[in-house]
Amino acid sequence: KTLRIGLIPADGIGREVIPAARQAIEALGSTIPKTEFIDLDAGFEYFQKHGKALPEETLQTKTDTITWNNGSSPSTKVAGYSSPIVALRKAMDLYANIRPVVGVSASGKPSVDLVVVRENTECLYVKQEKLEKDSNGKQVAKATRVITENASRRIGEMAFKLAAARPRKHLTIIHKSNVLSITDGLFRESVRDVSKGWPDVQVAEQLVDSAVYKLFREPSVFDVMVAPNLYGDILSDAAAALVGSLGVVPSVNAGDDFVIGEPVHGSAPDIAGQNKANPIASIRSAAMMLRHLGYEDAALRIEKAVDTVLIEATTLTPDLGGKATTQQCKYQGERIETLL
Ligand code: NAI
Ligand code: MG
Repeated sequence: KTLRIGLIPADGIGREVIPAARQAIEALGSTIPKTEFIDLDAGFEYFQKHGKALPEETLQTKTDTITWNNGSSPSTKVAGYSSPIVALRKAMDLYANIRPVVGVSASGKPSVDLVVVRENTECLYVKQEKLEKDSNGKQVAKATRVITENASRRIGEMAFKLAAARPRKHLTIIHKSNVLSITDGLFRESVRDVSKGWPDVQVAEQLVDSAVYKLFREPSVFDVMVAPNLYGDILSDAAAALVGSLGVVPSVNAGDDFVIGEPVHGSAPDIAGQNKANPIASIRSAAMMLRHLGYEDAALRIEKAVDTVLIEATTLTPDLGGKATTQQCKYQGERIETLL
């Protein structure tokens, strides 16, 4: 069998960090089957040239998995453009975004060790927005937020399954149902109901605002956190600050039969093209992706090699206080090979 892995560098630092992820996978040698990499297009730059952010060919090309770097979405509306990763998650029904945030320390005991499980298909990201006028002719912008019992239950199941497999077996439901009692209320109730099937997992809940406070004050309170789409997006970037940089936090977009590995960070236009982006988030995303495909040994080998590099702290990129370039980073293929 040949493992077909799609690569979508999309925009910005993607062209720097996705090749690093590829190198790490290549360094695994015979730990995984023979691998074929397929370059696929998507993103804002592609849109500017071809008028489409996610070409049909990318959607139709059959692969076993994809490693993706985020596209640059403009902050103002651009006619015809829509975020390609949001579209891809929807098209492939990748309903769970799993984002582990782990701080490596020399003692071997992680300083922070939690997982944000983000619902990936609905909430405010259904992008149903409209502009109206009030009776005085002033503009009124409205957005629809969709929370369904089905999507809340299935993200709940995914989160409980993850929590049950971790030593602490603890899950915190993140919501704001004191204010949004219907939408967040449905999310909370649905996940609570799923909890009945997981008696070994301890369940807690926390309002999203105080959850951010607690995350900074006392991150060890949390083990697995499950949240609607927008809260999960914000919480995982916040949690990244606890481990030094967005450049080290990976994720997978998981459905029932497909995964896409994706760093939590975006296209980082402020450092793009300068050869200083941290490739670890993408390398760890590749490891998570391989784990989801059943290659646990391969995932562990990559993760151990990355941890070693972080502990040694001799070849860190500037986001972690070092001077190394993306290319110099020893956590690229060759170094991983020697660490395995
Ligand atoms: P960002 O995550 O790209 O960058 C935030 C900060 O973290 C920047 O200072 C950046 O230099 C730094 N950073 C991020 N990744 C890094 C890495 N690997 N190594 C070192 N430093 C790193 O978020 P920002 O600036 O808010 O967004 C930039 C673009 O990315 C936007 O156009 C946005 O739409 C897009 N984006 C797309 C996402 C997606 O498609 N899922 C997710 C997040 C952002
Ligand atoms: Mg984000």
